[in-house]
Amino acid sequence: MGSVLSCICPEKADDEGRVNAVVGSNATWRIFTYKELHAATNGFSDEKKLGEGGFGSVYLGKTSDGLQIAVKKLKAMSSKAEMEFAVEVEVLGRVRHKNLLGLRGYCAGTDQRLIVYDYMPNLSLLSHLHGLLAGQVLLDWKRRMKIAMGSAEGLMYLHHEVTPHIIHRDIKASNVLLDSDFEPLVADFGFAKLIPEGVSHMTTRVKGTLGYLAPEYAMWGKVSESCDVYSFGILLLEIVTGRKPIEKLRGGTKRTITEWAEPLITKGRFKDLVDPKLRGNFDENQLKQAITVAALCVQSEPEKRPNMNEVVSLLKGCEPKVKVMPMRISSIKYREELLALDQPSDDEGGGPDDYGVFSALDGGPYQNYGDDGRLTRNA
Ligand SMILES: Nc1ncnc2c1ncn2[C@@H]1O[C@H](COP(=O)(O)OP(=O)(O)O)[C@@H](O)[C@H]1O
Ligand SMILES: [Mg+2]
Repeated sequence: MGSVLSCICPEKADDEGRVNAVVGSNATWRIFTYKELHAATNGFSDEKKLGEGGFGSVYLGKTSDGLQIAVKKLKAMSSKAEMEFAVEVEVLGRVRHKNLLGLRGYCAGTDQRLIVYDYMPNLSLLSHLHGLLAGQVLLDWKRRMKIAMGSAEGLMYLHHEVTPHIIHRDIKASNVLLDSDFEPLVADFGFAKLIPEGVSHMTTRVKGTLGYLAPEYAMWGKVSESCDVYSFGILLLEIVTGRKPIEKLRGGTKRTITEWAEPLITKGRFKDLVDPKLRGNFDENQLKQAITVAALCVQSEPEKRPNMNEVVSLLKGCEPKVKVMPMRISSIKYREELLALDQPSDDEGGGPDDYGVFSALDGGPYQNYGDDGRLTRNA
């Protein structure tokens, strides 16, 4: 890991470890000491805990100069966690976009790894759709469309503008954070993949979150930009409908959002798709546009999905090249053994039964499908 970090590590830190390093063109961050982050978060106290994910816990903190920060603290030192930390810091050091959560700094002591971000006062999209803030219905239609557009623009930057291109691999509602203006910032680059030039797709271990996983990725570990496009389609359906990517029905069976939406989309019953919490307040044209984009993104054949440049222009109101209405979307049925891996998330106060619950997967029965680094080159 040293080599990964050393490429962006500043050469010299002062006694406090306070260094302003210029990463890429204009991103600034600094190294924090453990002592400083411990003090900033009241000793990582429970009252300061913002949430918990696969990587560890996230705490709200305040630095001595008054800056509000979010500190992600690694659960335990393992080679897997260290790799995620290294990937996240490496990737964050390369990106700079209004819709991507930037790096404030990190702390890499002998036995701790912490990452520091700007604190996002409106927390995650997940908390508004299905979590603690859902009851307040702060996401009206306009805000939802702004969140969809901003997230798409952040992804478009990762796929098309930064070199090498970056596949996020964990696009989901808890990784879309909201600033004080409800502008979305895509976060969590621990699973990201840098794509060398000329490589169309890679075969890797499956990581990510069930419900958002593209079928070719869930089954064969085949990863390309269009896996993120698929996840974005699911996210878009979630934003419009207020439903979870996987719902638990009575009797314990699970239903994906595409299985639920498909008959309504096919029959052109778009209004029936809209989150009832919006009480009928939505823009019909934008609704059609959003559902069209989502339906294109969640097609099971990756080559049929639009790329993120196309997604952004479609969301802006450009006409799709293919006719989509009424269209059949092929709803994905995850195989039983994959669904069995689906674990409850304790993030943001939801209990396993009322929560749409998908866990980060790493390997499982699918790790046999491929190993990291096997590349398939364009012919
Ligand atoms: N910068 C931040 N500002 C505010 N809340 C955050 C920030 N980063 C993470 N969180 C909260 O902490 C939770 C846990 O984050 P994370 O460890 O990334 O796990 P996950 O994305 O799987 O939920 C998020 O869902 C979010 O609610
Ligand atoms: Mg996250």
